Amino acid sequence: MKQNRDSIILKTADQIERMRRACRVVVAVLDRCEQACRPGVTTGELDDLAHETFTGLGATGLFYGYPDYQPGRGYPRHTCISVNEEIVHGIPGDRIIREGDIVSIDCGVRLDGWCGDSARTILVGAVAPEARRLVETTTRCLEEAIAAIRPGLRWSDVGLIMERLAVRERLGIIREYVGHGIGRAMHEAPKVPNYAITPGGREDFILRPGLVIAIEPMLTLGRGQTLTLRDGWTVVTKDRKFAAHQEHTVAVSAAGVDVLTRS
Ligand code: MF3
Ligand code: CO
Repeated sequence: MKQNRDSIILKTADQIERMRRACRVVVAVLDRCEQACRPGVTTGELDDLAHETFTGLGATGLFYGYPDYQPGRGYPRHTCISVNEEIVHGIPGDRIIREGDIVSIDCGVRLDGWCGDSARTILVGAVAPEARRLVETTTRCLEEAIAAIRPGLRWSDVGLIMERLAVRERLGIIREYVGHGIGRAMHEAPKVPNYAITPGGREDFILRPGLVIAIEPMLTLGRGQTLTLRDGWTVVTKDRKFAAHQEHTVAVSAAGVDVLTRS
């Protein structure tokens, strides 16, 4: 039986250093986009800024043309920008950012053959207290997951930490999209659920030094059901309640954990 742990490609210390360089480019992109993410700017302008930033640093984007990279097909922009009720895969365009919005900016690049992937949800000006709690809890989920990581632990133990925190805060958990292994390709084994899974079950895997994964919890003020818009990409909550998304590329090391996309 195929298990989630099959075909995981562990990385050497040297390879992780090369991944860190790609991840640093992603951090530079997100830092600049966060600065620019103010009322009046369009999501398309933020995408242009991201493209200019990673290109200037010698990297190529992972999202444009995904998944097949045929001319005129696949994902049409360089980042995913998902506002309010949009969860992930929002296509940048003419949408104008307004005070009170929560804006997830997701960017992945390849540098020197290695990938990095990270997303942040930005609070624009004065945000409703509930939306702020949503974003802060999503950050806490990611940070508490990272803090728990050490070699030998099962992923199911980490997923349980995220699930418990979301439940305690009475937030909905998005279960239709998961994190992923990452390396030379953006999406590698294993799939990385950001919620509780059966310990020792098919989705579970053991954390070992050299494992590099993108962890990306998505939470919502509503029930957690999703819908893809007619553009074929933008994933929204069915009940149109706000959603938040936070993502880091993380390497498991002998010492514990190394967050490659840390600012
Ligand atoms: N960061 C996302 C992921 O991990 C976004 C990729 S979707 C794409 O899967 F279409 F834009 F590539
Ligand atoms: Co990702």
